[in-house]
Amino acid sequence: MSTAVVDDVVAEIKNLKKKIGATILAHYYQESEIQELADITGDSLKLAREATKVLSPVIVFCGVHFMAETAKMLNPQKKVLLPDLEAGCSLSDSCPADKLERYQEMLRINGRKFQTVTYINSSAAVKALSDWVVTSGNAEEIIRRVPEEYEILFVPDQHLGRYLSEVTARQMILWNGSCMVHEIFSVHDLVRLKQKLPNAITIAHPECPKNILEHTDFIGGTEAMIKHVSQFKEPTDFLVATEANMLWQLESKCARHRYHPVPGITCACNKCPHMARNTLEKLRDCMLTGKPEITWQPEFDKAREVLERSLLNVPAKAVSGGHPHGD
Ligand code: 13P
Repeated sequence: MSTAVVDDVVAEIKNLKKKIGATILAHYYQESEIQELADITGDSLKLAREATKVLSPVIVFCGVHFMAETAKMLNPQKKVLLPDLEAGCSLSDSCPADKLERYQEMLRINGRKFQTVTYINSSAAVKALSDWVVTSGNAEEIIRRVPEEYEILFVPDQHLGRYLSEVTARQMILWNGSCMVHEIFSVHDLVRLKQKLPNAITIAHPECPKNILEHTDFIGGTEAMIKHVSQFKEPTDFLVATEANMLWQLESKCARHRYHPVPGITCACNKCPHMARNTLEKLRDCMLTGKPEITWQPEFDKAREVLERSLLNVPAKAVSGGHPHGD
């Protein structure tokens, strides 16, 4: 798109926002032109919490499907639009609800006493089968709340689960899912980059595999990364192992530093193809047509309870341990 066309689309979006009463939320992995336009940017946890404070009748969620679904579940009365309904997530796809349910059943038949702790990168149906939902921002805190007498079944991210198991010293049964973006960083190129910039600090998302985290100085989710780099007062080089659009957010919040993307095995830019489905034109079009909309599904009722007690600290009705349906 030429600059003039981009300017026109941006002007249309701003007008439509007022006309339909919309608030735009955008994840840090969205293209910079979308983040720039958003009323609120954030990581998964911040966006879920901020969505509950929105006063306008419409939330336009620029992120992937599970994020918009979460916003809808926490705000049933709001209209929640997602510019592209096909914006999915490889982690969510790796854990179908029927497969998880069968696995939980097998564990119960084998006499295992467990609670299911589920990463937010999952479908509502999977959340409904869970005792807790966590993000990279609150996972440690929630895991420490799971009574010691329960084993933890952690789904679907094996790398995040392994990392959390290590920092909390809790044994976990891990699902074998992984994020297609964080899985492809090249440890070989990271080591080469560290040799080239020996004073650089490496920061990595805990969705990265162990071979990357072993070479990392700071491990944290996207919000934690911003907090960490802002503590360095002198200009510093950071090697960043997460989705490449995060660099724009780091640059705009802490411009004094230099940020270098850790290369992937196949390319230098680790961009999430699902996040990239949301474009400025689709953002405009969803506000024009009121579609695609996240509509209420039967499993949302149970998933909402799990989300509220996990992310908003609403007191638990029934955290059952190994009986995610509360039965
Ligand atoms: P956070 O934004 O919570 O760090 O996680 C990123 C992510 O996994 C989005 O899919």
